[in-house]
Amino acid sequence: MLNFMKGSVFSRKQAELVPEEPAQDVQVLAVWGSPGSGKTTVSVRLAKYLADQKKNVALLLCDMTTPMLPCICPPSNLECERSLGSILAATHVTDLLIKQNCVTHKKLDYLTIIGMLKGENVFTYPPYSQELAAELIDHLRDVAPYIIIDCGSAIAHDILSAVSLLEADSVLRLVNCDLKSVSYLSSQLPLLKDQKWDADKQYKVASNIKSNQAGEHIESVLGNVAFKLPHSDELDNLALAGNMLGELTLKDSRGFRKGIARLAKEVFGV
Ligand SMILES: Nc1ncnc2c1ncn2[C@@H]1O[C@H](COP(=O)(O)OP(=O)(O)OP(=O)(O)O)[C@@H](O)[C@H]1O
Ligand SMILES: [Mg+2]
Repeated sequence: MLNFMKGSVFSRKQAELVPEEPAQDVQVLAVWGSPGSGKTTVSVRLAKYLADQKKNVALLLCDMTTPMLPCICPPSNLECERSLGSILAATHVTDLLIKQNCVTHKKLDYLTIIGMLKGENVFTYPPYSQELAAELIDHLRDVAPYIIIDCGSAIAHDILSAVSLLEADSVLRLVNCDLKSVSYLSSQLPLLKDQKWDADKQYKVASNIKSNQAGEHIESVLGNVAFKLPHSDELDNLALAGNMLGELTLKDSRGFRKGIARLAKEVFGV
């Protein structure tokens, strides 16, 4: 039993962790992994893939240190300025409160986004409890049939990401093929093991694999990897241009696009 985090989000009783029967096998997917591994990129592209398939999808961006809403598409593509902070500042979460604070995309009708706005940080709003975070995830289930949560890596200090990991129906665990990712997992997995975290609901993903990296080598360190997502220069350039939701058309992106399609099929059956 780890007791250095007593009283924190990682000291929840096991009984509280029993998941409710989901309407479908996987409705809520948390995307988690080492810093810079591609969590936001994969969350955004997966959400776009589902939206392109005419599936209503809600994308929750947990990062309060680096709000990602201003980074994933030009601000002019978004309908209005609403913030995740307004939800977390409430005493209780309701379906209506979530709907009032969703940001819709002008060109992607099936996508709705919840995140912090440019300039906001963790101190912009009052502190929130893990119970409230759990309420948010629970009520999100009423808002959209597919929910993708872009978690932060610093789960010991980020209640929403930590609760998302525990409450999600399934988790993508991203790593890069480098020592940093291996070190991150060795450091953070013990926090979750203590919660009897359901290892069966996790998919290991080798992310942003570059041509000079031995994609196979990571398997010898991590065991079976369910998905491999190759590096794409085109995708990286879209991110640089602040348009992660843009179209990928070049041959260079084929491997990545196929990977996302396989992921959507396997996890959501879409
Ligand atoms: N498959 C990929 N091909 C090309 N570039 C990628 C790919 N995946 C991620 N990247 C790039 O890697 C960088 C980090 O990606 P991203 O911001 O999605 O990671 P993250 O895990 O969300 O990071 P953080 O820990 O800061 O939240 C970005 O520049 C992104 O464009
Ligand atoms: Mg991120």
